[in-house]
Amino acid sequence: MKIKERLFTPGPVPLPPEVIKALGQQIIHHRTPEFTQTFLAVREKLKQLLKTDKAPILFASSGTGAMEASITNFFKKGDRVLVINAGKFGQRWRDLAKTFGLKVIDYEIEWGKTYDKKKIVEITEEFPDIKGILVQHSDTSTTTLHDVDYLAKISKKLKDCILVVDGITSVGVYEVYPEDIGIDVLVTGSQKALMLPPGLSILWYSEKAEDRLKKSNIEKYYFSVLAESKKQEKGQTAYTPAINLIIALNESLKLMLEEGLPQLAKRHEIMALATREALQELGLKLLSQSPSNSATGAYTPEGIDADSFRKVLLKLGFRVAGGQDHLKGKIFRIAHMGYFDVMDMIQVIAGVEFALLKTGVPVELGKGVKKAQQIINQYL
Ligand SMILES: Cc1ncc(COP(=O)(O)O)c(C=O)c1O
Repeated sequence: MKIKERLFTPGPVPLPPEVIKALGQQIIHHRTPEFTQTFLAVREKLKQLLKTDKAPILFASSGTGAMEASITNFFKKGDRVLVINAGKFGQRWRDLAKTFGLKVIDYEIEWGKTYDKKKIVEITEEFPDIKGILVQHSDTSTTTLHDVDYLAKISKKLKDCILVVDGITSVGVYEVYPEDIGIDVLVTGSQKALMLPPGLSILWYSEKAEDRLKKSNIEKYYFSVLAESKKQEKGQTAYTPAINLIIALNESLKLMLEEGLPQLAKRHEIMALATREALQELGLKLLSQSPSNSATGAYTPEGIDADSFRKVLLKLGFRVAGGQDHLKGKIFRIAHMGYFDVMDMIQVIAGVEFALLKTGVPVELGKGVKKAQQIINQYL
């Protein structure tokens, strides 16, 4: 039999059958009452997901599109921003901000670590004119969670600052309620916990951020939040939307809301905890000191190339992700976000055990699985 591939990469993630069914339907035209009705239903569900009365806007782009829109719509050229640069996607904030003429304070942090609160205070005291703090809630490249509540407090204390959060791998993993937290701009993408193929990005903004829309002087055309929000409020989009993805989003949001957001966050927490504990039980070192519940990264043992290890895992039927840049060949990453359950984690941990044995690491079969089961058992 051909290898049965199980997708454990941190985006894209597997699709629920309800989503696959929605994606497989004949396309409809978007300038129709039928599309508008679905689009308005999606907006209502997104409001529930983010616990807000203000619906986010959607772009037909990958997540980076909404990141770019956050820069080009809510800032002016020359604005000073603080970038929490703790991984591949922190670098993306920095590069985007620079590309569009912002002055960047690039707070570089070792991959796998989070920011130091004292350092944030120091920076914001030295530069009280900071107009934005840009951060990943969960940086997928380092499987690290950054505390956005603290940054929201700091941002509020500054004269005219907004907190811009990349929630691409935190929305749908955690309860991310931007108004409760004090986030001004929140972006996410379809191919992560929203359980869709790539191609949709989502951007929510606060009233404070809204004030900036007319003042921004950065060039934009496709990614105009003003143009889109006017249309989207009425259930239409400025340009051709990703029709089938939006129809499928209606289904995935339904699943998420039916599960209940606290329960959804709990499921992710248990899957992540079980995986982290199991890997450590097998003697592996975790990549992150502030691990995110969206994915777990771990180093392979000394002398074992992580990419060769991943190939062994793939032969066993598990596709996991590797490390990026200097972490290439050193780590592997297992996703928990979206359409996964605790049994999937037990399975992938069993796969890791076999792969360790096959690469010459003397592990006791079942040791990691047992640990994961013990953890999961507390919640069953
Ligand atoms: C945290 C985070 N930010 C940004 C991105 C970029 O999103 P995209 O690849 O959809 O443009 C990703 C993608 O993996 C991500 O995980």
